[in-house]
This record gives sequence, structure tokens and C-alpha cells, in this order.
Amino acid sequence: MPAASYDACVDTTLEALGAPEGALLPILHAIQAEYGYVPDDSVALVADRLNLSRAEVHGVLSYYHHFRKVPAGKVVVQLCRAEACQAVGADALAEHAKAVLGCDFHQTTADAGVTLEPVYCLGQCACGPSMMVGERVHARVTAEKFDALLARARSNA
Ligand code: FES
Repeated sequence: MPAASYDACVDTTLEALGAPEGALLPILHAIQAEYGYVPDDSVALVADRLNLSRAEVHGVLSYYHHFRKVPAGKVVVQLCRAEACQAVGADALAEHAKAVLGCDFHQTTADAGVTLEPVYCLGQCACGPSMMVGERVHARVTAEKFDALLARARSNA
């Protein structure tokens, strides 16, 4: 990826924030929004621009599971792993999802079609288990509903 492209993410974010203080997370979000992940070769540029060490940037990337270090699949499925959803079957749904997809959380299916990620609350606590497919939140997700949503998302991807 050309460094100039990362520069654009940094410039746009700094312009919006007006100062470099506290800009690291927004910049990493901007890069991930643009590329779908935070490429390794963007780290040096971000560190230079914010006068941070590369280790500091890597530290933040490692701390927040939200940031991907490799490209995601065409469809990103996020299953809620928080307490309210766990109380109504999120564990069983997670096991179903892993079995159907043949991958674990933070992994992508062998065909690069679907990435499975955990998320900790989607604001639908009263009607869990909840999941997000792409940008859309779904509530009261059963194994059957998961399969149907996944099939639709795969066919639209
Ligand atoms: S706990 Fe799952 S949506 Fe809030």
C-alpha cells in the first residue's frame, strides 16, 4: 500500500481533530475504515506523524481487538459475547457459528468469505442473542436465523 494513502488518512483525521493529541485511535480507525484492516506498513508512518514509537502504535493495535492486522473476509459477522446475550444462548450460538464457518473468533473462513468476531454489546440486550452482519444489527438470533442471515450476506457479497 502506498504510504501516500496512509498520509491521507492521517491528514484528514488530524484536520478534523485540530491537534495530534489523542489522534492515534481515530487515525487507526480511519485506516481500518479505508482498507478494512491496519496494514503493518502503515505503522511506521503513523508513528512518525504522531511522534510515537512503533512499539507504542503496535501496543495499541494489539490491545484493541477491534483492529485487524490482516484483511477481513467479504462479510464480517460479529457475535455479541456480553452477559445479557450469554444468558439467552449466545454461547450455543457461538458454537454453532464456529462449526458452520469452520473458524474461530478473530479468524476468516478458508474461502476468505466471512470473518467471525466477538463484540461486547450491540445495544440490543433485551432481545439477544444479538449479532451484526456488516453494518446491520440482528436480534433474537437462533441457529436457523444465523444460517439464513449468513446465506443472504454471502450471496450479496
Ligand atoms: S449484551 Fe448483547 S446486545 Fe447487549
